[in-house]
Amino acid sequence: MTDRTPHLKHPKHDPTTTTGPFPTQHATGRRPWADAEALYAQAAADRLGFWAEQARRLSWDQPFTTVLDDTEAPFHRWFTDGTLNASANCLDRHVAAGLGDRVAYHWHGEEGETRTITYAGLLAEVQRFANALKALGVTAGDVVGIHLPMVPEAIVAMLACARIGAVHNVAFGGFAPQAVGERMAACGAKVLVTVDGARRKGRVSAVKQALEDTLETLPGLEHVVVVGATGAPCPMRPGRDSWYADLCAAADPVCPALPLPAEHPLFILYSSGSTAAPKGIVHTTGGYLTGVSYTHRIVFDLDPSQDVWFCTADIGWITGHSYLVYGPLANGVTSVLFEGAPDYPHRGIWWELVERYGVSQLYTAPTAIRAAMNWGEELPGRHDLSSLRLLGSVGEPINPTAWQWYHRVIGDGRCPIVDTWWQTETGSIMIAPLPGTTGTKPGSATRPLPGVSAALVDADGAPVTEGTGLLTLTEPWPSMLRTLYGDDERYVKTYFSHFGEDTYVVGDAARLDEDGDFWILGRTDDVINVSGHRLSTAEMESAVAAHPAVADVAVVAVPDELTGQAVVAFVTPADGRPGDPALEAELREHVSVRIGKLARPKKIVFTAGLPKTRSGKIMRRLLRDLLTGQEAGDVTTLGEPGVMAALTSAITQPT
Ligand code: PRX
Repeated sequence: MTDRTPHLKHPKHDPTTTTGPFPTQHATGRRPWADAEALYAQAAADRLGFWAEQARRLSWDQPFTTVLDDTEAPFHRWFTDGTLNASANCLDRHVAAGLGDRVAYHWHGEEGETRTITYAGLLAEVQRFANALKALGVTAGDVVGIHLPMVPEAIVAMLACARIGAVHNVAFGGFAPQAVGERMAACGAKVLVTVDGARRKGRVSAVKQALEDTLETLPGLEHVVVVGATGAPCPMRPGRDSWYADLCAAADPVCPALPLPAEHPLFILYSSGSTAAPKGIVHTTGGYLTGVSYTHRIVFDLDPSQDVWFCTADIGWITGHSYLVYGPLANGVTSVLFEGAPDYPHRGIWWELVERYGVSQLYTAPTAIRAAMNWGEELPGRHDLSSLRLLGSVGEPINPTAWQWYHRVIGDGRCPIVDTWWQTETGSIMIAPLPGTTGTKPGSATRPLPGVSAALVDADGAPVTEGTGLLTLTEPWPSMLRTLYGDDERYVKTYFSHFGEDTYVVGDAARLDEDGDFWILGRTDDVINVSGHRLSTAEMESAVAAHPAVADVAVVAVPDELTGQAVVAFVTPADGRPGDPALEAELREHVSVRIGKLARPKKIVFTAGLPKTRSGKIMRRLLRDLLTGQEAGDVTTLGEPGVMAALTSAITQPT
């Protein structure tokens, strides 16, 4: 248990979290289930039968007979004797059903360019690129890295991997070269698919050129495929590097989808944990696809024949994987894929897109809602948002003020809001209301979905039926992670070692109210959530510590009105270097270069010493208390008690 637990066991509630419940609202009357309560009851009575029914909505090459194999728990395996292919489920079966002309993506570029990609068109391009990967020597089980901005080729690359059984590892487009390199090295990527340049708010960064040095350090990397997106300067090394367009032009247009065992790995996605080394979360084919297609369908009240779906997440995060790529495609829906930032070319761009494409469901993060709220009602007011019928929230707790604004201004008071709780590890949504049935409360993700079992426990594992506790998932579910890549031991230790191998420990604290609804409070480990992006305290500390002017560092999170949490670094400069604004700017840039801009500390406090126990462990709790203006708790274990007085004066100095 880290020193964070006591802090979270007595969370400071937003005083308005007691608001609600909001009345049940009916979105359309066309829910895909007859009676939601019956669905909960069916899943409770026969959980495995319920999941088997969801899995059978997919197209299997060889139907499964085993639903769950838990003989090697907690390494759970689902639908083990079945075979299927994820790209065939996302593309071929819709085309075979006569839906080839349906738009899969309305791609909208930063400068307003558009591309309309149909299911048949996507299938054709995926087949070509799958053959191109084969021509580079990629076979089933090889890892292919993808480091791309929000261009359609990112989705083509993911599906092309899935088509031939290669395992994709997407590194978020905003990551710095070093962070990309670490993720590629950790999984031994054989090929990396990247881009000449990425656009961001009117500026182009030369992505491939910046990666050059890092690529040299990856011994397992045989080929680099470059999407020509911007014409940015792009050195190409003969024999290793090729252009995406050339490879596709030379490739055979037909590539049958390879039937794969349900437990064949589909992708690895690195996520932040308690240590500096990111965790390679492994998802497999049958269970993952079952989870994302089921949840996308029921949580968002989906009607693929009419809906236009807009998920604002980046492809590089799990929300992008599950609800921009695999869920929507498996369900055959039309999506909007937007390349840009929410405030470029103007702060009303999302609302312009909703109107232009007739978006029916919008799925975004509370940070974006808070930003839109700050920009004012007038911007969404300029657009016709009447096509919207459902709004989703994900990634961080949504404060009631933002919830109510989202509901009133964007949803015109008529669209239900689904606050969806889940994680990279869970693969798909676990706790969320079912629209039109579950009464919602601003700030609460409400109930576990049918088929999902969640419970709260105290630090000793005893059940908490009302009040605050540690969130656990008590039954395996199909889209759960299977392991951490190359580190089974860390998988067991991180998730299943606290309360026995049947209990998955989430890493979040939550509150259960008198109606049995869950309120997610935040992480109990050293993971920070900035704008819905998951960052590791340890990874940031090791990045700061690598700067020669730093003798010691501790990173903590403080509440932030806009981004949910913000990063503050306490730094002891090395001998002779003053802690001044110049060093602060240098350190922020240093973190940006090593991890990415998203990890830059909001504030750096220079201090002569950090509060440590006698055994040298940094007491981050005291630093947090100091920043939030709380009375420092127990300081008796401090090695040098005087350090707190010096720190208090350091944070009260203007920066
Ligand atoms: O702390 C929870 C928070 O985000 C964490 C998972 O982060 P990641 O794996 O990056 O996945 C984010 C997108 C699913 C969780 O442990 N979180 C996610 N959704 C919510 C949330 N916190 C509160 N409410 C949510 N709806």
